[in-house]
Amino acid sequence: MSPVYEWALDEWEYFVPHNMVNECPWTSTTLMLLGALVVARLAFKTLYVLAQTFVLPGTSLKKFGATKGSWAVVTGASDGIGREFSLQLAAAGFNILLVARNRDSLATLAEEIGTKYGPSVNAKVQLIDFSMNHEAAYQSLAAVCAPLDIGVLVNNVGRSHEMPTDYVDTTQSEIDDILAINIHATLRMTSMVLPGMINRKRGLILNMGSFAGSVPSPMLATYSGSKAFLSTYSSALAAEAKPHNVLVEHINAFYVVSKMSKLRKPSPLVPLPNNYVRSVLSKVGLACGAAFSDRPGTCTPFWSHALADYAMTLVGWKVLFIGYTHGVHRTIRKRALRKKERDAKKQ
Ligand SMILES: NC(=O)c1ccc[n+]([C@@H]2O[C@H](COP(=O)([O-])OP(=O)(O)OC[C@H]3O[C@@H](n4cnc5c(N)ncnc54)[C@H](OP(=O)(O)O)[C@@H]3O)[C@@H](O)[C@H]2O)c1
Repeated sequence: MSPVYEWALDEWEYFVPHNMVNECPWTSTTLMLLGALVVARLAFKTLYVLAQTFVLPGTSLKKFGATKGSWAVVTGASDGIGREFSLQLAAAGFNILLVARNRDSLATLAEEIGTKYGPSVNAKVQLIDFSMNHEAAYQSLAAVCAPLDIGVLVNNVGRSHEMPTDYVDTTQSEIDDILAINIHATLRMTSMVLPGMINRKRGLILNMGSFAGSVPSPMLATYSGSKAFLSTYSSALAAEAKPHNVLVEHINAFYVVSKMSKLRKPSPLVPLPNNYVRSVLSKVGLACGAAFSDRPGTCTPFWSHALADYAMTLVGWKVLFIGYTHGVHRTIRKRALRKKERDAKKQ
């Protein structure tokens, strides 16, 4: 018997009924092998997630037409994460179609892109208020997109609740806006752009999701549900689009500094939009922290978000996370109400 095997049997005796090792050598060996298999599986999964998150490069953006005259369409492009997608995709060599409501911010951004990356990169602006669900506005956006060779679509536009609120107290207009902006806009933009990508046999569609979509989030029920929709929708669409060489990805984000998150200071868990978007664009095609999460087509690319997502997959006890999130949202609501009161007194 090898010394290692002898040592393992000695150690194992602590965990199995007395004398079992000697009396049932096959049982104890089988249990030992099973234990080793479980440990090896966990080690393999962990190394796989770490390699994707910290070492392996994602698919090159050139595969989707960067520097070849292709366009990237970014919704919610005037601020936050969408603004960064626009700048970084322009830097990578895409012409950019900037889509949002605010004419001045979009014009300023288009000018910035022209100054930094022109004349090889063009930027166009298209105004639309997705909350209105206007057919005419969608038709004019479709007319602008039709002649373009669109290589990348970033369905980034999104809105959340003004503050965490029980569903029964949520206004109908807030519910309608969230559904129109988070779900309907993504579906309409995808319907507009995907046929061209399929014809050209190349394309990348990024749908901005949220941890609120994978952990049901009390007091943000409509937002949480809308992001869960995007997660499932993206998984299904990814399978349909793959044979046409079109990659569909659902991007799972925890907090990022922005107007929507109301977080102004970056921290290891809350990146600035530029660092966040850099991680997304450098990990295209890799699941990173979402690997083994039963959410095919989802990527959690930013390193701390990836580790959190993977840890949550390992723990797998959703009720625990739902309870924790509920507690956090109760606290945020109390603070938000106090701030509202203070602001009202100042006026
Ligand atoms: N920040 C986070 O912590 C976080 C976390 C998880 C997921 N996400 C997701 O990331 C995405 C971007 O979030 P963000 O934090 O960058 O948000 P943000 O800073 O609030 O920016 C939102 C963008 O969407 C545009 N927009 C808002 N309502 C619109 C409407 N009705 N029609 C057209 N455009 C509209 C805004 O521009 P205009 O006002 O000019 O229209 C702006 O460009 C969202 O899908 C969000 O759910 C964010």
